[in-house]
Amino acid sequence: MNDNKIPFLDLVAPHLELEEEIVGVMREALRNGQFTGGPLVEAFEKDFADFCKAGRCVAVSSGTDALRFALMAAGLRPGETVLTVPNTFIATAEAITQAGALVDFVDVDGKTCNMCPDKLREYMERKCRGYGKGRHISRKTGSAVSAVIPVHLYGQMADMDCINAVAADYKLKVVEDACQAHGARFFSKKDNCWRTAGSMGVAAAFSFYPGKNLGACGEGGAVTTNDEEAATRVKMLRDHGQVKKYYHDIEGYNGRLDAIQAGILGLKLKRLDEWNSLRRVKAYYYNELLSDIKGVRTPYEPLWSRAVYHIYAIRVRDRENMQSHLSKAHIGTGLHYPLPLHLQKAYSRLGYGKGSFPAAEASAESILSLPMYPGLTDAQQRRVADAISDFASGCASVHKAQKELRGAN
Ligand SMILES: Cc1ncc(COP(=O)(O)O)c(C=O)c1O
Repeated sequence: MNDNKIPFLDLVAPHLELEEEIVGVMREALRNGQFTGGPLVEAFEKDFADFCKAGRCVAVSSGTDALRFALMAAGLRPGETVLTVPNTFIATAEAITQAGALVDFVDVDGKTCNMCPDKLREYMERKCRGYGKGRHISRKTGSAVSAVIPVHLYGQMADMDCINAVAADYKLKVVEDACQAHGARFFSKKDNCWRTAGSMGVAAAFSFYPGKNLGACGEGGAVTTNDEEAATRVKMLRDHGQVKKYYHDIEGYNGRLDAIQAGILGLKLKRLDEWNSLRRVKAYYYNELLSDIKGVRTPYEPLWSRAVYHIYAIRVRDRENMQSHLSKAHIGTGLHYPLPLHLQKAYSRLGYGKGSFPAAEASAESILSLPMYPGLTDAQQRRVADAISDFASGCASVHKAQKELRGAN
């Protein structure tokens, strides 16, 4: 690696650190010949359920499958509407369609960039007319709204107390998209305690894509739930609807997690609290370094949140030029996500346009994700902040010169 380069993500260092143990897991699978299911998967499921403080965990082959199976297991009927946010990875919405439902969107809160509970309530009040208890028909999609997927974006939980309160009023099932939020916590006023992502809805979906806070050396995902029946249903869905070998109660999918991946995830899970704490330390250091730079807004973390900073995204003016300035300084950055889903061609059928979801659009236009991983050094963070500051002061002098020129004319 170029020593001068600060990558956006470092997938090499954490694996080199665990190389011997990872090879040990692979050897174990080679020797017992169990590559799907078996003790490595079962042990990981138990440990991850405990980590999330959820009753059950069912490991599956990706976060997208986890979302789809969680929705199907929650008792969603084909043709019903499921709400989510427009500023998420497309997989959230894809899973809704793949589960046979219709997607619709609710805007986010301008500060946290997570689903806004007031806008969810407004949607239900404005767009739905009640057809008796528990059946709210969306004027947009013409179907019953039956579930909502808050996305814990960037590793920060959505306001689950308020979302759950709206959901209870309108009989919506809540499925958490916790694909970016392994170990994130939320202080529930209702329960008067800290709750963990993956334990606050009827089910939750996690992704173990390599770049996640808990990432496999390949693909992987999991559903967590406190509902025994839902867990059994997800187990069937991931394995062709089987209750026992070659006896299929329903049609399902090939959505299992490999044993080797489960073994590796189990190893890494033991380090996750430590890695998440390091991410929080790095986030606070960025906050401090960037606090005085004009035109830069650091992430907002409410008092009730313990975010795990899967992504550290700032809001900036003149994002494209700042990104290319950082790239010239050999600093990797990302955009999560540059075009909200309601403006993507894939969802043009919903008939939304620019201005439909102003908060999601404003964040898409200004967010910039900075390098963030447990091994990021203080010196690297200072270099990132210096490059941002250089760019911002360059912008400031250009603005000043333009103003002076305008004054002179
Ligand atoms: C918010 C969100 N939802 C769903 C997914 C899908 O997970 P996977 O890529 O494991 O299918 C991702 C993955 O990036 C994600 O970030």
